[in-house]
Amino acid sequence: MNKKLLTGALAAMAFLLPSTAAGQTADFNIIPRPQQVKVSNDAPFTLSAKTVISLGTNSQDMKRNANMLASYIEQATGIRPAIGKGKSGAAIILTIDKTIANAEGYKLDADAKQIRIAGASAAGVFYGIQTLRKSLPLVNGKASKVSIPAVHIADAPRFAYRGTHLDVSRHFVTADSVRQFIDMLALHNINRFHWHLTDDQGWRIEIKKYPLLTQIGSKRAQTVIGHNSGKYDGKPYSGFYTQKQIRDIVKYAADRYITIVPEIDLPGHMQAALAAYPDMGCTGGPYEVWQKWGVSDNVLCAGNDKTLTFIDNVLKEITQLFPSKYIHVGGDECPKTQWQKCPKCQARIKALNLEAKDGHSAEERLQSYIITHASNYLKSLGRNTIGWDEILEGGLAEGATVMSWRGESGGIAAAKQHHDVVMTPNSYLYFDYYQSLDKANEPLAIGGYLPLETVYSYEPMPKELTADEARHIIGVQANIWTEYMPTFKQMQYMALPRLAALSEVQWSQPALKDYTSFTNRLTEFTHMYDRLGYNYAKHLYNVAIHVDSDNKWREILIHMTTAGKAEIRYTLDGTEPTVNSTLYTGAIVLQKSAKIRAAAFRDGKRSSVTSQDISFNKATACPVELLQPTHKNYTYKGGATLTDGLLGDKGFGTGRWLGFSGNDLEAVIDLKQNTDVSSVSLNTCVDKGSWIFDARNIEMSVSADGKSFTKVASKSLPALEEQTPDNIYTYELTFPQTTTRYVKVTATSEHNIPEWHGGKGKPAFLFVDEISVK
Ligand code: ACM
Ligand code: ZN
Repeated sequence: MNKKLLTGALAAMAFLLPSTAAGQTADFNIIPRPQQVKVSNDAPFTLSAKTVISLGTNSQDMKRNANMLASYIEQATGIRPAIGKGKSGAAIILTIDKTIANAEGYKLDADAKQIRIAGASAAGVFYGIQTLRKSLPLVNGKASKVSIPAVHIADAPRFAYRGTHLDVSRHFVTADSVRQFIDMLALHNINRFHWHLTDDQGWRIEIKKYPLLTQIGSKRAQTVIGHNSGKYDGKPYSGFYTQKQIRDIVKYAADRYITIVPEIDLPGHMQAALAAYPDMGCTGGPYEVWQKWGVSDNVLCAGNDKTLTFIDNVLKEITQLFPSKYIHVGGDECPKTQWQKCPKCQARIKALNLEAKDGHSAEERLQSYIITHASNYLKSLGRNTIGWDEILEGGLAEGATVMSWRGESGGIAAAKQHHDVVMTPNSYLYFDYYQSLDKANEPLAIGGYLPLETVYSYEPMPKELTADEARHIIGVQANIWTEYMPTFKQMQYMALPRLAALSEVQWSQPALKDYTSFTNRLTEFTHMYDRLGYNYAKHLYNVAIHVDSDNKWREILIHMTTAGKAEIRYTLDGTEPTVNSTLYTGAIVLQKSAKIRAAAFRDGKRSSVTSQDISFNKATACPVELLQPTHKNYTYKGGATLTDGLLGDKGFGTGRWLGFSGNDLEAVIDLKQNTDVSSVSLNTCVDKGSWIFDARNIEMSVSADGKSFTKVASKSLPALEEQTPDNIYTYELTFPQTTTRYVKVTATSEHNIPEWHGGKGKPAFLFVDEISVK
């Protein structure tokens, strides 16, 4: 194949090319994928020691752009082009082109004489520079010449707000690490850094008016081990940024066209501030900088005028440090338990005539009052407020922008109210979730399961919005909460390569998104991570095992994939795969239990082993009809999830468990033929903190026609007690052997959460998996 065939549409195939001329030729198969790439077979541009970078302007921004480009070229090839003004000779010319419509758009044209990068703005030129940088072959600074194929690239971002968040409260990172994080964002064309600077576990920014915030609030005595194990490490933990450091970092980010959106999380998540200034809390304290994870009940007292003055004074210094139009005021997870008891908060509720109505309590309206106060103050300083989706509760402050994190519903509601929205749903964009189900081989994470492919699949424009409402979806962001990331290296591991998937969600046009193309480009892009010394997750290089049921033939089908070119070899008996194991050549059909172990082999090197056990019983791969609906977030393959041979394991959100809320499991399994049965079993997953309770009643019945059923066994279960451990519970019901075609399994959920739980009186979730018929 010749490069001239590589138009934009064919670019995805470029990975099939040999890494041309020993890697001395540029290739535009980059991340995020540009809108239009047209490679031609005209003579290429030759980058050499004679190449100069030429500027049509004297502006500081463009000079800095030129210097960055010179450094990038030097890092990749060893050639450092001089920076000049002339436009003759072999030159890379950087210009502003006001005819480019998108403010961050650019064009890159290469021919034998020149490379011209024209941006709508200096930022647009910067993104053109990033594209050229990523297109260069990585020859470890050892090329004397690099060939850059003749090309026309026209590109612009899909979304104007392309964010990534980092929590430095739970774990602090140095100013140098923050700069490295900013470099990581720039590499992915991300233009907003949401900096979560304060929380219960530490206040991390110097505020001149309140010196105790850092003198006391930045230090915790010790840190809990693991998931609030009750054991502590005994090691004092501290850290904060001085205002000088903050100013330097703001400038460092701005030089890379990244705006820092600072967050002061209020009125909840304030225990570190209360440790420093206890009279701003409802009880007066004393408080400690929190040593464990979770949501603290200790929040700012909303009835205290001092609190309002505190908010204003802190926000004033924040606006002096951060030029961002948006200032983030948090608003998430603020328990109202103390406000309900506090005389000052109740007096404020009375004075303001706040009433419980329209599904919002008086205390929620009090929170809205606090956020509105902050928002009005920011407005008086010429800034806009952004907050987590809880700021919808009790009424949105005028003009506030909503960050939708508890799924997309907050974002949808805000857009319908004509408020701007940044989508950051936890189910797609929380990079503190596990990247792999093989948790034993992962660093401890908060939970969940968010593989690269799920991040990539995210589409931020909800279908339920009209075109007018959809204009309020201004962008997309991923969040990195750091409870379980004690080091910057681990934060990098959780961020990469998921940031690459995010960058295509934020930048690339949906029609150009293609996961296979993406992973092929990513295998090249990770060489850039290697060269920059970034720590990244390498699951991409392992084998992904996909499991499907064929209900017609009662078979389980196994598909295996891996990135780029590699051999996949596997075993079915649980032994380690070697170079001599069976080569995967297409779908594997299973009709009995198997312990699949698979690995990819590249250049004689084996990837990590992927394991997947498949467990067969008489119901496996049989069709299942659900007579009551699942919760929409926990539906997965529907009834088939219960007979797919995959046992639900730790973690309810892995796709293995079906979730019900307000409804019960009522599953009819068609065994496809008359079958002797004498026992049926079912697993439930209990996670009380997530409102997931055990079943209250389990019942089995059989039927010859799938319509009229005869009960054969049942078991009722007591209400869950506070002491009952979170766990997976198995219920097996046995009965005298009978011959049947259909089996019905009913598991009644807890419809009325007991008194001892925060959700008392409400329906609980029920999570069930794999039904086994013997
Ligand atoms: C959040 O994750 N509490 C916004
Ligand atoms: Zn109070």
